[in-house]
Formats: sequence, structure tokens, C-alpha cells
Amino acid sequence: LVKRIGIAVVGAGWMGNAHAQAYRQVPRMWPEAGIDPRLIAVADTELRAAQATAERWGFNRSTADWRDVVSDPSVDIVDITGPNSIHAEVAIAAARAGKHVACEKPLGRTLDEAKAIASEVRRAGVISQVGFNYRLVPAVQFCRNLIDAGRLGRVLHIQVSFLSDFGRDPEAPFSWRYDSAAAGVGSMSDLGSHVVEMAEGLGGTIAEVAATQACFVTSRPEGSATTSHFERASGGTDRKRLPVTTDDAFVASVRFASGALGVLDASRVVAGPKSSFVFGVYGSEGAARWDLERMNEIDLYLPDSEESSSGFRRVVSGPTHPDFGRFSPGPGVGLGWQDLKTIEAFRLLRAISGGEPTDADASRGVRVAAVVDAIRGASNTQAWVSVKQRED
Ligand SMILES: NC(=O)c1ccc[n+]([C@@H]2O[C@H](COP(=O)([O-])OP(=O)(O)OC[C@H]3O[C@@H](n4cnc5c(N)ncnc54)[C@H](O)[C@@H]3O)[C@@H](O)[C@H]2O)c1
Repeated sequence: LVKRIGIAVVGAGWMGNAHAQAYRQVPRMWPEAGIDPRLIAVADTELRAAQATAERWGFNRSTADWRDVVSDPSVDIVDITGPNSIHAEVAIAAARAGKHVACEKPLGRTLDEAKAIASEVRRAGVISQVGFNYRLVPAVQFCRNLIDAGRLGRVLHIQVSFLSDFGRDPEAPFSWRYDSAAAGVGSMSDLGSHVVEMAEGLGGTIAEVAATQACFVTSRPEGSATTSHFERASGGTDRKRLPVTTDDAFVASVRFASGALGVLDASRVVAGPKSSFVFGVYGSEGAARWDLERMNEIDLYLPDSEESSSGFRRVVSGPTHPDFGRFSPGPGVGLGWQDLKTIEAFRLLRAISGGEPTDADASRGVRVAAVVDAIRGASNTQAWVSVKQRED
């Protein structure tokens, strides 16, 4: 029995195209699942962007108004890949219309928006998924399994860091990520929501945080409606400059409910790292380290009877690691970033077809937003903040 699922994507930028490509791949990669995703419509206020995305991936139609797709009876999933400012409005309208909701991270601009989305999703009884794709990396899933099986002993210390250079050049144009009205906060949720989600995946609930943040590039030349944050400087220096109203970087100390300690940080303005999303998880018996720039490897330390030969060893991903074998029968050839989106799309479609529930649903989005909100609050007050008080 083939299950047809109609999809609308809202936001035809980087993520809109990545999600469209992912849906296209699902029936080819999981043919036995009998899922037939139909690309019904793509909406973007910049109609030309919507049209280009529709043509590229074969959507039936494009529109400048997301309301058109929310009211379309042939749409089952509304997948929100626009700026954070549209997440809540579109997700709530979609859930009220009985549509399943896929939403890119962060779930809304603020904790309140995340909670509003989650409660509407709950009330409507629809399925939800938030774009925490890094939890799906085969090597990362493997690490989590090792931790759950107790192979690292008691987890004591966790470091998670996301350093990127996309905003390094002060002459690179202004995009929505630099605007608090569109983004909410900056590195704290743009990169930080990935950091927090990863940290909790490895170490469980974060109980309290202390943090500080900074904005280093305080103004940027005006861009256009479709300016990507990857755009580099262009044109003269006489362009109007707009104030940056979101943070470029944060650092946080955290205490997990388990008692483990953690250090979380992110920056979008440093030279050197490109997408250096790294973690180290250190236990009483073993340890693991991972880096997105080397997504298919982990450095693993497990107890060795011989002290003289004990130490970290490099483990390369292969079909014995979760989800890897779907992409390649042989170890060492590696998955790419887009493959994570394909796995993510499959999980959503599988849940909608009556299979396993999504594991990063709207409630996960609220949880992450609560920690991000605590980091923001702690950096404002320069005092330790309990996450629980914010989530309740
Ligand atoms: N999971 C990940 O790894 C990951 C990576 C990048 C971005 N994201 C998230 O995805 C979302 C989109 O980011 P991006 O980098 O693709 O942005 P982008 O700037 O490349 O694209 C955003 C698009 O949304 C469109 N848009 C703006 N307002 C709209 C509206 N009202 N209705 C419809 N479309 C509208 C813009 O015209 C643009 O084409 C953000 O929430 C971001 O945090 C997640």
C-alpha cells in the first residue's frame, strides 16, 4: 500500500531547497516503506525564489503567500523553512488547519513562541518535527548509544561548541539573522539551539546555566530580501549600514541534572573554522569526540587492559552505525550533510504513515528553547539561571 503525503514548503532559501531535495530522495532510499511524498507547493514572499525552487524540485505550484498552502486540502505537511519570525505564525495556522508541522530550528524566535507552537500541535493532534538534523549523524547516534549502554561510565564532562565564519567580514551584507525582530536572538539560538540539542542528547537534561554573550560586528551594509548569510562583501563602502541587533557569540557553563558539568559556546564571526560544530563527552570510563567538519569520524577512548597501548582511536563510520547502511554498503565512504536531511524527512514521513513517532518533535523544540532562553537570561543577569523555572 503506497501512502501519498502532500508537502508544502514555506521559505525557498537554503533550507527550503534542502528539504525539497530530501523529500524527493525518501522513496528512492526507503522503497519498501511505500511512502509517496508529493511536492505540492512552495511559498516564498519573493515569488521568484518560490518559482525557481518549484521548478528545480518539481513542485506543482508556487505562491508568494503561505496562507495559500495552509488552506490547500492536498497538503498534509507544512514544512517551515523561512526566517525564525515566521515559524510561530505559520506553524500555528498549519496545525489549526489540521496539517502536520515540520519546522526548522529554532522553534520560533522565543520560548513563548515555541510553547505556543507546541501547544497548538498538541491540541490539533498533528505530528511535528523540528530540524535538529545533527542528532541523526550516524557517528553521533553511535556515541549516544555507547553512552546509553554505559560504555563511557558515568558522564562527567561535556563540551559542545559551534564556531563558524559566516559573519566574519563586517562588509558582508545584513541578512535576517542579524535582526532581532526576524531572528529573536543570534548565535544563542541560530547555532546555540544545535549546541543545546546535542548537549542534552549526550548528557540529558540541562538543569542550570551561567552565560555571557557579545556582538562584535555591530553594523552591516544593507542587503536585499533574499540576502543569504553566506554572501560576501560586494559593491562600494557607501551603502547604508544597518545595526546588528543579535549576538555574534556566546559562552555558557552548564550543570546537567545528572550532576555532569558542561561548557557550551558558539560564534559566527571568527576566522578559521567553517562549520566547526564539535563535541567532547568524557566519562569515568571512556570518552568520545566528534567534529562536523569530519562528520563521519569519531575519536573514541574505551578502557584497554594494556595501559601502555590505551588511548583515543579514530573510528570511521560504516554500515554498523545507525542509518549509515541505507546510504552505502561499505564503511569509510561517508555521508554528507544533505543525507541528514534525507534521514530527517524519512522520519517525519514514517511517523505520518503510522510508524515510529518523530524523536525531535515540538516538545523537543520547547525544551531546547527553554535552555536557550536560560542562556539569554543568564547572560543578561550574569547570574546562574534554572532552566526548569522557564520551561514550566
Ligand atoms: N537545521 C539546520 O542545519 C539549519 C541550517 C540553516 C538554517 N536553518 C534554519 O532554517 C530556517 C531558514 O534558514 P535559511 O538559512 O534557509 O534562510 P534563507 O535566508 O536562505 O531563506 C529564507 C527564505 O524565506 C523566505 N521568506 C521570508 N519571509 C517569508 C514569508 N513570510 N513567507 C515565505 N517565505 C519567506 C525568504 O525570502 C528566503 O527565500 C531558519 O529558521 C534557520 O534557523 C537550519
